[in-house]
Amino acid sequence: MRLYIFLSFIIGIMSFFLIRSTLYVVQDAEVKKNELLLFIGIMSSQNNSEARQSIRDTWLNLTGEQGLKYYFLLGKEVCNVPPEDRLYKEACTEWTVDIKGSSEFSTGEADILRARIFQKTEAYVGFTFLVHHSVVIHRLNIQRGFLVAAGGFVKLNLINSVTREKIVSATFSDVENNSGSDLLEKSVEPYLLPKGFEGQVIVELIGNNSGKNLDYSECWLQWNNASGLITFLQLVRNINEKPVPFHYVSCTFASLTFTLHERGELESHIASKLDRKKTWENEIKSLKSKLLRESEEKKDILFLDVVDVYRNLPRKLLHFFKWAHFNAESSYLLKTDDDTFINIGEVMKTLKTVRTIQSKKALTRPATEFSLDWWSSFREGWPVHSFGKWREDNYRSATYPPFPCGAGYVLSQGVVQFLGNRAFNFLYQDFQGEDVSLGIWLAGANPLRITGDNISCEWACDGTCNPRACNRAELSVDAMYQAWDAYKNCSNFCGCH
Ligand SMILES: *[C@@H]1O[C@H](CO)[C@@H](O)[C@H](O)[C@H]1NC(C)=O
Ligand SMILES: *[C@@H]1O[C@H](CO)[C@@H](O)[C@H](O)[C@H]1NC(C)=O
Ligand SMILES: *[C@@H]1O[C@H](CO)[C@@H](O)[C@H](O)[C@H]1NC(C)=O
Ligand SMILES: *[C@@H]1O[C@H](CO)[C@@H](O)[C@H](O)[C@H]1NC(C)=O
Ligand SMILES: *[C@@H]1O[C@H](CO)[C@@H](O)[C@H](O)[C@H]1NC(C)=O
Ligand SMILES: *[C@@H]1O[C@H](CO)[C@@H](O)[C@H](O)[C@H]1NC(C)=O
Ligand SMILES: *[C@@H]1O[C@H](CO)[C@@H](O)[C@H](O)[C@H]1NC(C)=O
Repeated sequence: MRLYIFLSFIIGIMSFFLIRSTLYVVQDAEVKKNELLLFIGIMSSQNNSEARQSIRDTWLNLTGEQGLKYYFLLGKEVCNVPPEDRLYKEACTEWTVDIKGSSEFSTGEADILRARIFQKTEAYVGFTFLVHHSVVIHRLNIQRGFLVAAGGFVKLNLINSVTREKIVSATFSDVENNSGSDLLEKSVEPYLLPKGFEGQVIVELIGNNSGKNLDYSECWLQWNNASGLITFLQLVRNINEKPVPFHYVSCTFASLTFTLHERGELESHIASKLDRKKTWENEIKSLKSKLLRESEEKKDILFLDVVDVYRNLPRKLLHFFKWAHFNAESSYLLKTDDDTFINIGEVMKTLKTVRTIQSKKALTRPATEFSLDWWSSFREGWPVHSFGKWREDNYRSATYPPFPCGAGYVLSQGVVQFLGNRAFNFLYQDFQGEDVSLGIWLAGANPLRITGDNISCEWACDGTCNPRACNRAELSVDAMYQAWDAYKNCSNFCGCH
């Protein structure tokens, strides 16, 4: 097994040269004598200047003697929406809410005209949503026509998306005509849905009709995000299918009715919006000038064309690959984060060993085989989340393709070239998380994945420490300095005993 991994490693590195010689016309497949071996990109967010300094003061000192180059990767733009006014913590989208005059809110409203005039819209048996300010749920509603089509019995459930707990439900039957209206309403016990709650409303067909195909042409409930109190996230076409991203050109048969909890608090939040905006503008100015100073002084910051928020990390990474493809002529590219200590000595030892073996041309391989190489620890069979910070709207499998640990991975020039060339297309696929995105982008090309073995160090994904690992992740600024102290005292970044 070890031998196999060892061979894979060598073959992986070899193939890099094959790619070079197939894509570029190179007379000599050997590495140019003075070519840079490793280029390092360190993901950092704009406000993390202390973390950046801790890295400059510690392990980056070792890159000088090794003749390496590095850049901190930062977004060019600061999000201009104050954090308290963002729709999601992780993205730079403004939350606008207008509650004037209304005491009751609903997630759907009758739009009979639409059903009569426009042609069919696709109808869904459920939807998921996110609550932006606490509300109290009072009623569940269903369109009468659907009930009839469904055979007279339908159960409507509100489920907590995260825990899968059923919060309230109501059974509707065609026989009980509580009003003449086309929308049947059922009161439920009032239930508080707190800010940040993610819920799913789902229609359940009961009795003989479950599984029956319904004619959806009569759907006329129009989406209403309750003046901005909620955001629709996903749609459920079928109870057994994975939800799809929400889109307004669709329809549902069910809705919720709720009231505001702590109305006063929300009203004052809305009233102080302008003040927050002014304060934030000053924050941005001061952050920008701090960044400019840092960048001029240290000359080690690469500003990439994105707004620097979590959800944009995949784009930031692509911009970096594109940049690296054209500007960083190195055999390998290492990506890491600003809370990670890179064991430069171990990493370089591995790369140099591999280069030596390669230059001896100890192994050969048919030039028709095309593979790319990729060195890290990998997550395999990782589940795709449909809620929370890691909610994935656009990747519909149950699990992700293998992806590396963001705390440290090395890509060969061939892989960087592959990514750099396709960056423009990948920019339009919006997956969450930079490391899972990389797994998806590379899934087709399927470069050879190489993990640690006898000749190479191993990459750590989390805070666990192994003195001979390639890296140590999840360090606070203080812990970074401590690790450096220990590294200097006893060559062990985990500490001296
Ligand atoms: C940066 O961090 C400081 C301290 O945590 C905070 O006060 C400030 O608002 C942050 N600025 C930005 C622009 O995020
Ligand atoms: C590390 O580098 C920084 C900045 O380049 C320098 O001020 C510091 O003295 C160096 N420390 C060591 C231990 O070499
Ligand atoms: C229920 O109401 C509909 C129209 O609103 C009516 O056509 C139907 O006869 C009523 N059914 C019963 C059982 O009352
Ligand atoms: C379900 O269908 C069976 C046979 O088709 C019938 O005997 C039964 O009464 C139906 N049950 C309901 C609840 O409609
Ligand atoms: C509510 O919907 C409107 C458009 O119908 C949209 O502009 C707004 O951003 C939405 N608000 C939320 C909180 O999703
Ligand atoms: C790798 O190291 C183990 C001991 O840690 C040793 O038994 C094994 O033979 C080594 N394999 C290779 C390929 O060097
Ligand atoms: C490293 O050595 C210095 C000076 O000898 C000492 O103050 C420090 O505590 C040591 N750090 C560790 C982690 O051993």
